[in-house]
Amino acid sequence: MSGRTLRVRATRETKLIGMMDAPPDKSITIRALLLAAIAEATSTIERPLRSEDTNAVLAAVRKLGVRVDEGDGGSALRITGGKLKSPEDALDLRNSGTGLRLLTGICAAREGLTVTLTGDESLRRRPLDRVVEPLRQMGAEIEYLEREGCAPIQIQGRKLKGIRYELPIPSAQVKSALLLAGLSAEGRTEVVEHTATRDHTERMLPRFGVEVKEVEGKGTRAVAVEGPVKVRHTELAIPGDYSSAFLPLAMSLCLPGSNIRVGGLGLNPTRLATVPLLGRAGARWQIEMAGYLGHEPVGVVFSSHSTLSRIEVDADQVPSVIDELPLMALLATQAEDGGEIRGAGELRVKESDRLANTQAMLCAFGAHVEVEGDCLRIGGKQQFAATKVDAGGDHRIAMLALGCALLAGTESAEEEVATMNESEIAGWECADVSWPNLVEDMSPIVAGAVMEAM
Ligand code: S3P
Repeated sequence: MSGRTLRVRATRETKLIGMMDAPPDKSITIRALLLAAIAEATSTIERPLRSEDTNAVLAAVRKLGVRVDEGDGGSALRITGGKLKSPEDALDLRNSGTGLRLLTGICAAREGLTVTLTGDESLRRRPLDRVVEPLRQMGAEIEYLEREGCAPIQIQGRKLKGIRYELPIPSAQVKSALLLAGLSAEGRTEVVEHTATRDHTERMLPRFGVEVKEVEGKGTRAVAVEGPVKVRHTELAIPGDYSSAFLPLAMSLCLPGSNIRVGGLGLNPTRLATVPLLGRAGARWQIEMAGYLGHEPVGVVFSSHSTLSRIEVDADQVPSVIDELPLMALLATQAEDGGEIRGAGELRVKESDRLANTQAMLCAFGAHVEVEGDCLRIGGKQQFAATKVDAGGDHRIAMLALGCALLAGTESAEEEVATMNESEIAGWECADVSWPNLVEDMSPIVAGAVMEAM
């Protein structure tokens, strides 16, 4: 990725008007690529996300001997899975936490496979022990090559035994890594969660011919697979990414005069906690379910400028709004009574320390936000001023910066002519991790502002 800067000239007339489609979902694309890579024949994945993260996962599965055909400029991928081969050099998952953690589960359970997994500087700082610990309980042989608890790791694939594992922290990545390991382990692998996390893996496994047992308990949910099980090839299409779409949706809620429609959107309930949360605060948006794309509900969201009262997020809601929290904090700065996000410590171990960086980004644009422990406290009705910032290598912080820049033209100037305010976001290239065409996709619905990536 070469360095790019995004210049944003916003005016006090800036608003979002019109229709757009969301880019394909990152979480779902990565799961589809990995399951196709271990399926017994050729699978077709339509409309996969092509981004830095998903390209890193594709490069990794290719190095494991999996054949990937990219017909039609990559709008559909044909992946021929099967037995994985030990690659000659390390697999570099770059910035993809989901890729690294899920692949750790898959590789640890493949007898005879020897592989080293690593990532970029940010990924090598993020905790991997949350996956390695339970995999070791299943019998996995995994060694940390540099820092304890982090990538790079060396895996010696073994025959694993299924376990019952209660997630100590709510994490869809850990749940998924264990279920994927469970596919080739002996017996039942059961993951119990006390707080619901995204369920894309459980929804997708039956598409690949794998039976998944789900048991709702008192305040818990258990998901289990019985191994070893054959993973069959399939065809599937990827819905739009709600976490990416949340940028235009959030900005339409807070920029006066906005009115948009975002289509082709994945509407998985485990990803949508922002909807009731913001609905309670007065968000004027409407969701229309259109049906199912394979295993995932899809539809359309209409949203328009709203007077928001107060935005509150509690610890048990955090997993289902985790990737939207930086923009939720931005919305709280525009709400009448501000807001509070509690129990958000997991943000500290994302692609960057997102708790600190959300505060720092909002403050750079002139807002006042406090961090106390794992809690963000945000005053309402704050004004933003254009400035120069750096995205710091984190795609969600880059999206937050763009949101701030669009708001930085909106202070009420008395002049007749709209005042132009220019912001600069250095390190913009990290947006490519989840949404490479962000500026092209969003520009048609942004009125009264100019966005230029250079
Ligand atoms: C993801 C799960 C979440 C999320 C990440 C993608 C996934 O992480 O923040 O962007 O695809 O399973 P955790 O499982 O670590 O909470």
